[in-house]
Amino acid sequence: MHFSVKSGSPEKQRGACLVVGMHEPRHLSDAAKALDTASDGALGAIVRRGDHGGQAGETLMLHNLPGLACERVLLVGLGKKGEFHDAAYRKACAAAASALDKSGATEAVSYLADLPLKGRDTYWKASQAVVASASACYRFDETKNKKEPPKRPLKKLTLALTERAEVPEGERGLRDGQAIANGMALAQRLGNLPGNICTPTFLAEQARELGKAHRKLKVDVLEEKDMEKLGMGALLSVARGSRQPAKLIVMHYKGAARDEPPVVLVGKGVTFDSGGISLKPGAAMDEMKFDMCGAAGVMGTLQACCELELPLNLVVIVPATENLPDGLATKPGDVVTSMSGQTIEILNTDAEGRLILCDALSYAARFEPSLIIDVATLTGACVVALGKHASGLLGNHEPLIHALLKAGQASGDRAWQLPLWEEYQEQLKSNFADMANIGGPQAGTITAACFLSRFTRDQHWAHLDIAGVAWKQGEQKGATGRPVPLLTRFLLDRIESR
Ligand code: BES
Ligand code: MN
Ligand code: ZN
Repeated sequence: MHFSVKSGSPEKQRGACLVVGMHEPRHLSDAAKALDTASDGALGAIVRRGDHGGQAGETLMLHNLPGLACERVLLVGLGKKGEFHDAAYRKACAAAASALDKSGATEAVSYLADLPLKGRDTYWKASQAVVASASACYRFDETKNKKEPPKRPLKKLTLALTERAEVPEGERGLRDGQAIANGMALAQRLGNLPGNICTPTFLAEQARELGKAHRKLKVDVLEEKDMEKLGMGALLSVARGSRQPAKLIVMHYKGAARDEPPVVLVGKGVTFDSGGISLKPGAAMDEMKFDMCGAAGVMGTLQACCELELPLNLVVIVPATENLPDGLATKPGDVVTSMSGQTIEILNTDAEGRLILCDALSYAARFEPSLIIDVATLTGACVVALGKHASGLLGNHEPLIHALLKAGQASGDRAWQLPLWEEYQEQLKSNFADMANIGGPQAGTITAACFLSRFTRDQHWAHLDIAGVAWKQGEQKGATGRPVPLLTRFLLDRIESR
């Protein structure tokens, strides 16, 4: 979809469709009022008939209103005025985009970004409008013969602002929003592709493609023999049960001076998690193709950085493997030695994410990073604790945690901190190795992070457990593109604050 920003008053707009908002109950926004006046009360008359009450997310398409130069008006419900905050704004933008996509109007001019919203400026409203609209129109049909696109999909959305002086801010928001939306679309595509297509080798190829598309990006792929030389016994122990070779994908984005320490992002890339010998139950096991959404999220964020040519250095590391049962697969009770030299007793082969991440985190140290963030669909316990609304956030550096929480608030892609107290570390005790790979039934998200913390002691490090937020279940099953908005916002804030 193509986005643009312009200024002008609503009643003067020509074209296929104008989008204006209305609060509950039947309280026209300023733009809607202007249309009502220009149409000699026609808009207000329709509303008074009761066809639309302004409920959040409700839309009504009106054709050929008298006195207006545009063909259609889409009236979008904003909910109660007192409750019109970030979430309601996003909901209105998404509802408008879906309605437009189905309407047959291939282009539209929207006044939603012109609505007053407490604490939010034009930059924010424009970037959120772009992300919400693009996400609402996202479709995955690569693996279908019968594609189901609307006959005349929405192609062009113009964000209209009444104040001309606001246009540059709006354009800045549009630019960042577009890069975030594109990054999300990449993450969604990789997440949605099935395990037989999206293998570790496929992920490595996708990384190489990204490298070809962007001048400042260099991509290295380490093979299993390279990992053996590095002593990555934990990562390789997961790959043993799979016939697909594991890959360690390392992407270097150089947007700043050579000597500037990079930010390192590490993403869990388990392209299918059967649980291994500790086999998962069959129900919904297909969803374990999404177990590479950490990888997808960091690759999507990297793409956004490349597109915006952000002035920073970024290293993105993706340990990629399948987790399958096999005669050669790692067994419960096996002891492996990680790259750090620490030994691990694998009590449950289904706790594989931390095994591949720990070696990737040890590897990250060689880039002398300013900070490391790992992103992983790591624990079912995180879904129990926080549901699908927030990523679990843990780490060893409070300013980093704080910056991530803030970026989550700003982007709407929120995280919530869990404690990483020393007391929890005890749960990882093993009689046979330096640590066990599971910490028992209690506080599963925290003990998983405790495990990772043992490999990041000398770094500023944070961990995002995205098990609940990375994909939707049920009728809308599919990848969400999270946490690309959170991570990109974090990087943008970091640049702005220096
Ligand atoms: N990929 C799963 C985590 C997961 C489970 C994400 C369900 C989303 C939904 C991870 O590899 C896993 O299996 N974790 C185990 C850990 C346990 C064995 C300590 C889990 O959460 O059950
Ligand atoms: Mn698992
Ligand atoms: Zn997993």
